[in-house]
Amino acid sequence: MAEAMLGLKRTHRCTEVTAAEIGSTVTVMGWVQKSRNKGGIIFVDLRDRSGILQLIFEEKDCGSENFAKAEKLRSEFVIAVVGRVEARSGAVNENLATGAIEIRAEQLRILSESEVPPFPIEENSRTKEELRLKYRFLDIRRPDIQRNLMLRSKVATMTRAILADQGFWEIETPTLIKSTPEGARDYLVPGRVHPGSFYALPQSPQLFKQLLMCSGCDRYFQLARCYRDEDLRADRQPEFTQIDMEMSFADVDDVIGVNELLLQKLFKEVCNFDLQLPIPRMTWREAMDRFGSDKPDLRFGMELKNVTELVKGCGFGVFTGAIENGGSVRGINAQGQGAMPRKKIDALVDFAKGFGAKGLAYLAIQEDGSYKCSFAKFMTEEELKALASAMDGKPGDLLLFAADKDKVVFDVLGNLRLELAKQQDLLKKDDFKFLWVTEFPLLEYSEEENRYVAMHHPFTMPMDEDLPLIDTNPGAVRAKAYDIVLNGTEMGGGSVRIHQADIQAKMFEVLGFTPEQANQQFGFLLEAFKYGVPPHAGLAYGFDRMIMLMVGADSIRDVIAFPKVKDASCLMTEAPTPVAPKQLEELGIEVSGKEES
Ligand code: AMO
Ligand code: AMP
Repeated sequence: MAEAMLGLKRTHRCTEVTAAEIGSTVTVMGWVQKSRNKGGIIFVDLRDRSGILQLIFEEKDCGSENFAKAEKLRSEFVIAVVGRVEARSGAVNENLATGAIEIRAEQLRILSESEVPPFPIEENSRTKEELRLKYRFLDIRRPDIQRNLMLRSKVATMTRAILADQGFWEIETPTLIKSTPEGARDYLVPGRVHPGSFYALPQSPQLFKQLLMCSGCDRYFQLARCYRDEDLRADRQPEFTQIDMEMSFADVDDVIGVNELLLQKLFKEVCNFDLQLPIPRMTWREAMDRFGSDKPDLRFGMELKNVTELVKGCGFGVFTGAIENGGSVRGINAQGQGAMPRKKIDALVDFAKGFGAKGLAYLAIQEDGSYKCSFAKFMTEEELKALASAMDGKPGDLLLFAADKDKVVFDVLGNLRLELAKQQDLLKKDDFKFLWVTEFPLLEYSEEENRYVAMHHPFTMPMDEDLPLIDTNPGAVRAKAYDIVLNGTEMGGGSVRIHQADIQAKMFEVLGFTPEQANQQFGFLLEAFKYGVPPHAGLAYGFDRMIMLMVGADSIRDVIAFPKVKDASCLMTEAPTPVAPKQLEELGIEVSGKEES
């Protein structure tokens, strides 16, 4: 039977009891981690969010009634204990903060009993994630997740203090907003008053923060919930949190300056990492050429080399064919991997094919200097030598080549580079390599939609020197956009915004909007632009991703209290669920397709 606290007041969390308290009486409350009955003496490990404390029950101290209750204790019972702090009678446990003391119990209350939990509540649990998420309220009792949530809270608090100190106002923006089709898919919300019309949940506060600049708020930030109905991956959730900010009268360097200081303070305080400023910058072009990625992981080298010129006239049709089709041939040097068995190389070829490669050509330089090469018969010895030399190939190295359209080559080699680094254990989680990637293309051609789409969003400012290209060669226009990349993850991104109505109108035109369409969708912004707009710029971090990187978690699910899984459902509450016909009727909604089970 569960008892009440009845006048008992907790005096300490578990690990707040220290050797300094020896001799005094304390009242502690928490969960039973485990209980061992040694006959006449019962040891209980008591757990709360601070850690573990050992309790000792003997009938002579606590009386027969309390002792009988102590005999019933099982894992995850919630108890309150009054007792005296003593030096530990047995061996001191060096692994516990409270390893030198124990509490000799005098009173025990069982505040709540527990069924046997579906998995043990312990650090580094090997329990399947599915089960953990179904019982997330238990999973969060585990020290790993608690530590992550504690750090998340700390980073949020620090961020608020640091940005407030820099003159930022925290302003909330609405989460029932107008749907705009640019970007990812919107989550839609119907309402009773407007049948047939829908709000959207914000993909980000982008337009509102720009309007706040028009409103003279000067510097804004928000820990903003964002919603995107897109395909999920390990570092994506359908709802997630941004540290979102915007600054007036600001250009690229102003945003970068504020954020470098923010990152330096956060990473020092949370990870004890000394971030050297300035953070290096690399243009998008250079990042693609050298790393095949717009978010290069700089913890290791293995850079891409362009060998197109060198192999242009060779006899290998795969290479020359790709070049004739407007593509390129590039390679990476996996140093010291020249003895990789054929089977493992074949697995790399399959890996490459997963990213759209038609194949992967390899040249392994043996220790004796001879070659094992998948295209040797198409090339002369001299050509192979020149290729190996261009790749800095030494005996014992494995050279891997992709030939295709640039986009495919970058994707294949960029990912292959990461895969090889993983295999060779080159990715240390406490090694933080920051990078600003700048000068992104403004536009990206969508084969699917047969038009240009904004690479970042339609409000991003073209680079001044590229403005004249916007009519003649839109694909070549670079944007005043920047991403902050950490260890190969896009942690945040932003841009300088267009604040001139004529450039914004041109941008909509290039994106294929008629003036009417632009007006219908973004009229409120264009209207605001008529009444005095300060030049402005901003950035948003994926807050969940930032915490994931700080704590070295493998997934953002481990730093979100109640995350969703791959199909965007919540295993604990089973959301989303069908709703009652009456609810649908009120909203004027008819459902056509039934969800396939
Ligand atoms: P962007 O779309 O690049 O920019 O988003 C900013 C950052 O948010 C994080 N992020 C996500 N995190 C978890 N799950 C997701 N599904 C997800 N999608 C994005 C990423 C990303 O870098 N309004 C602009 C910012 C600006 O221009 O100021 C924006 O939203 O870490
Ligand atoms: P094949 O002549 O098709 O046997 O190909 C010879 C070698 O070239 C094999 O190792 C293939 O995996 C590789 N290969 C095929 N297509 C490509 C490509 N697009 N890029 C790089 N290597 C390729």
